[in-house]
Amino acid sequence: MQGRLTGKRIIVIGSATGIGAATVTRLAREGARVCAADINIQGASGLAEALTASGTDVFATPIDVADEASVQAAFADALTRLGGLDGAHVNAADLKTIFADSNAVDEDLAVFDRTLTVNLRGALLCARAALPALLEAGGGAILFTSSGAADSAEPERPAYAASKSGLNALMRHIASRWGRKGITANCIAPGFVMTPEMIAGGQVPPSLLDAFLRSTPSTRVGAVDDIAAMAAMLLSDDARWINGQVIHVNGGGLMR
Ligand SMILES: NC(=O)c1ccc[n+]([C@@H]2O[C@H](COP(=O)([O-])OP(=O)(O)OC[C@H]3O[C@@H](n4cnc5c(N)ncnc54)[C@H](O)[C@@H]3O)[C@@H](O)[C@H]2O)c1
Repeated sequence: MQGRLTGKRIIVIGSATGIGAATVTRLAREGARVCAADINIQGASGLAEALTASGTDVFATPIDVADEASVQAAFADALTRLGGLDGAHVNAADLKTIFADSNAVDEDLAVFDRTLTVNLRGALLCARAALPALLEAGGGAILFTSSGAADSAEPERPAYAASKSGLNALMRHIASRWGRKGITANCIAPGFVMTPEMIAGGQVPPSLLDAFLRSTPSTRVGAVDDIAAMAAMLLSDDARWINGQVIHVNGGGLMR
C-alpha cells in the first residue's frame, strides 16, 4: 500500500478493539508497517490476519503494559520484525475498572491502583521502550490516547481522570526533553466515542447518549475513525512541527 505513511514502522499498543483497532487499520491503509500489540492477543492477531489478507503489512504481538518484562518482550519482537521504529501509539487503558471508579471518598484503592498501573505506569513503560528506538531512527513520533475526562471535572471516575492527566504531563515531559532530538510527543483526547464493541454490547443506555448529545454542539457521538484519522496525521510527517500538545477530538463537546 502506498500513502502518507509509506515506509513508517509503527507500534500500536492497545490495538485489538475500539480506537486502537481502527488506528491500526488506518495506519496500514496509509502505507505503514504496523505491529498491533495487545493483552488480547486473539483480537490483535485476528485484526492482523484480516489486514494482511487485504494487502497491508500488519502483525500482532502480545503485551501486558502492567508487566515490565512483557513490555520489553513486546518491543523486542516489534523492533526485530519491523527493523526499527518511527512511531508508537500508546492507546491501552484498562476500561474494565472504570465502572467501579467511584469518587474520592468511596474509591476502592485496588481500582485506583489498577487504573494508574495500566493507564499511566504502563504508558511510561511503553515510552521508555519506544524512545531509544525512535532516537536511533533519528527521531519519530510518540502518541498517547488521553481523554477529555482529564479536563472535564467529572463527579465520578477520579482514578481515570488522574491517569489521563498524568499522561498529559508525561507527554509534555517527553516533548520537552527530546524535542531537539527529533521526537514529537502528543496526546489525542477523545470525547465520547462509541466503539463497535460498545455498540454490539449494548452497554450504553439511550438516556446517557441523549444526555451526551444535549451537552455538545455536534449531532452525533464520536466514531473510532474520527480518532484514527487524527492518530494517522500525528504519526505522519505532516505533524513534524506539532509537539507537546493535547489535541481534543470531540465534535466540540469540550472547547479549550
Ligand atoms: N471510547 C471512548 O469514548 C474514549 C474516550 C476517551 C478516551 N478513550 C481512550 O481511548 C483508548 C482506547 O479505548 P477504547 O474506547 O477503544 O476501548 P477498548 O477497550 O476497545 O481499547 C482498549 C485496548 O487496550 C487493551 N488493553 C487493556 N488492558 C491492557 C493491558 N494491560 N496491556 C495491553 N493492552 C491492554 C484492550 O485489550 C483494548 O484492546 C483508551 O486509552 C481510552 O481511555 C476512549
